[in-house]
This record gives sequence, C-alpha cells and structure tokens, in this order.
Amino acid sequence: MHFQLEKDISSKTINRIVVLGQGVMGVDIALTLALAGYEVTGVDLLDSQLKTAETRTRANLSLMVKGGLVEQEAATQALTRIRRSTDWDTSIAEADFIMEVVPEDLTKKQAVFKKCDELCAPDVIIASNTSSMSISLIAEAMQHPQRAITAHWTIPAHLSPLVEVVAGVETLKATEAKTVAVLERLGKHPVICKDTPGFIHNALQGALIKASMDLMDMGIATAEEIDAVVKNGFGLRMPSVGPIQFMDMVGLDSIVNVGDYVAKTLDNPAYRAHQRIREKVEQGDLGVKTGQGFYQYPNANAEEFWEDINGRIIKTLKANYYQT
Ligand SMILES: NC(=O)c1ccc[n+]([C@@H]2O[C@H](COP(=O)([O-])OP(=O)(O)OC[C@H]3O[C@@H](n4cnc5c(N)ncnc54)[C@H](O)[C@@H]3O)[C@@H](O)[C@H]2O)c1
Repeated sequence: MHFQLEKDISSKTINRIVVLGQGVMGVDIALTLALAGYEVTGVDLLDSQLKTAETRTRANLSLMVKGGLVEQEAATQALTRIRRSTDWDTSIAEADFIMEVVPEDLTKKQAVFKKCDELCAPDVIIASNTSSMSISLIAEAMQHPQRAITAHWTIPAHLSPLVEVVAGVETLKATEAKTVAVLERLGKHPVICKDTPGFIHNALQGALIKASMDLMDMGIATAEEIDAVVKNGFGLRMPSVGPIQFMDMVGLDSIVNVGDYVAKTLDNPAYRAHQRIREKVEQGDLGVKTGQGFYQYPNANAEEFWEDINGRIIKTLKANYYQT
C-alpha cells in the first residue's frame, strides 16, 4: 500500500540532518553526525542554549582529539558542518532526516512530530530519542506516521555505541532500514527493540537501580559500596560479556545455588533463580564448562572463549586501572 513511499524513503539522499533540541543529548548527537560527514542543524528555543551547545561541542572535540579518537583536521571539518538556529520552521523544512531530542514529555514530542510532518516531504524520516515512550503514540497526530521511528541513543551520545531502534505499528521497513544505515555510517551499534516502555537498555538499567535501592533500604550496602562493587566487579566485565553470557561463564548451577541460598536466607523469593536458568541446569547445560548454556561453546572453542574474554578484560583493566 505504501509501495511508493517505501521506494522514496529507501532512495532518499541524506545530506542535512536536523537535530531538534540542543540539551544534554542533542549536542552530542549533532557532533556525531557532523563527524560522519553530514551537514547538521542544531535547533533549540533559546540563543543561550545554542551558545552552551557550541562550547560543549568544542570541548568534546578537543577531548576526542586528545584521546586519539579523531584527527585534528576531521575535528576542524566537523565544526564547519554544524549550523545552529532558533528558527524551527526554516530548519525543519530543510531537513533530509530529523532527530527529535526535546524533553521526555509526550505532549511536547507529539507537537514536534506533528510540526515536522506538516513541514517535511513524506520521505523525510523523523526519529525520536525518547527513552521510554511509544513511537506509535508520539506519531499519533501525523498524516505520515510511516516515517516515524525511535532511535534511542545512550549517554554520552558521541562516545556510546548503542542506539536502540524501535518501529511503531505504522513504521515502514524502509524507515527502519534507512535509520539503521544512517546509524551504521556513524559507527554506532543499532539494536532493534520492541515498542515497550524503556526498551531493553532502560529495562535492564532500571532493574539494577531497583536492586541498588533495595540493598540501601535493607541497610545492606551504602551508595559508595554499591558503586564500588559495580565499577570494580561485574562492571569491568560488561564491555566483554552481557548478563546472559556472564551466567554461562560463571556456570548456571552456581547461579541457581547462589540465588536459592540468598532467597532462603533473606526470606525473599525474588532472589530465587529464574525458571529459565533452572531448566538449563536440569538438562545438564551449565554454560561454558559443559559446552552449552544460553549460548553454545563447542569443546574445541572453550579455550578460545576464555582467551577472547580474558584478553578483552585485560584491555579494559589496563585502560581503567593501570594507566599512569
Ligand atoms: N539525558 C540522557 O541521559 C538521555 C539518554 C537517552 C535519551 N534521552 C532522551 O533524550 C531527550 C532529551 O533529553 P536531554 O537529556 O537532552 O534533555 P535536555 O533537557 O538536556 O534537552 C532538551 C532540549 O530541548 C529543548 N527544547 C526543544 N523543544 C522544546 C520544547 N518544545 N519545549 C521545551 N524544551 C524544548 C530545550 O531547550 C533543551 O535544550 C529526552 O527524550 C530524553 O529522555 C536522554
């Protein structure tokens, strides 16, 4: 039914990307786009906000050069590609692709999407940086919701590789594919998520925050102790293994034993190991040590697995703990 629109979106050349909102996230998103060669307009309500955006961009670029992430010449070029404006209508009308980065307020986002819908041709993708809201709701008042999508960047946006991509009920496949292509050109790591509140990243982060608050409420740990445990413990492994593969690495039988002991001791069934983990243990699939857990580890490759993981952890350790 939207055959022509699919074609138009797929074949659209994207030169200028307009970033609506130049706060914490919008500034760094604009910088990332400019570094990848896009012409960028950063839009906000106030001149003062744009001045702050300019200062922060220069500071970020100089740190990236100092850290060896970007050549000085590329940084200088990126600056020339960013224009900033408080003129919403003119800026939106010039866009080939829009990143909406205004506050997390459904009414504000809906109004911005409606305005963009009215001012842009239907093949201009409009992507929201919402952390939690449904893109189907944000796009509710649009004539062309097929080009609405979520691209949820993670802080700090110019450094963090993850961007969650979420399609709404009306979003076309071409919109999703084009958005992923733009993000990959930036060197980002897009992950397609379902349109549920908080997506994957914030659902996981929320669980960790909830567990931390519970430990504080129960008088088991202070804020400093919790942060120290995460930064020096599993936080160190997180760039190499996520929580699922982490369990395979530890051994799923150990995960069950620890969970059950804590649940019994604290008299809190919430700590009991999940049924999914118990089923694996019952089948004898204990993780890396048996060659099968949530992932497969052919015996010949178990050594390879440890070499890879430990090699990566050593790199993280050296970068974070042993640099002079
Ligand atoms: N801060 C984070 O760590 C983070 C991470 C991922 C996603 N997000 C999401 O990104 C979006 C922006 O967050 P932020 O942290 O950059 O917010 P922020 O408050 O720092 O910036 C929002 C900017 O939008 C401007 N703005 C534009 N249109 C506006 C309007 N109609 N009304 C009011 N202000 C308007 C504000 O002046 C402000 O500069 C939110 O949806 C947020 O959930 C934030």
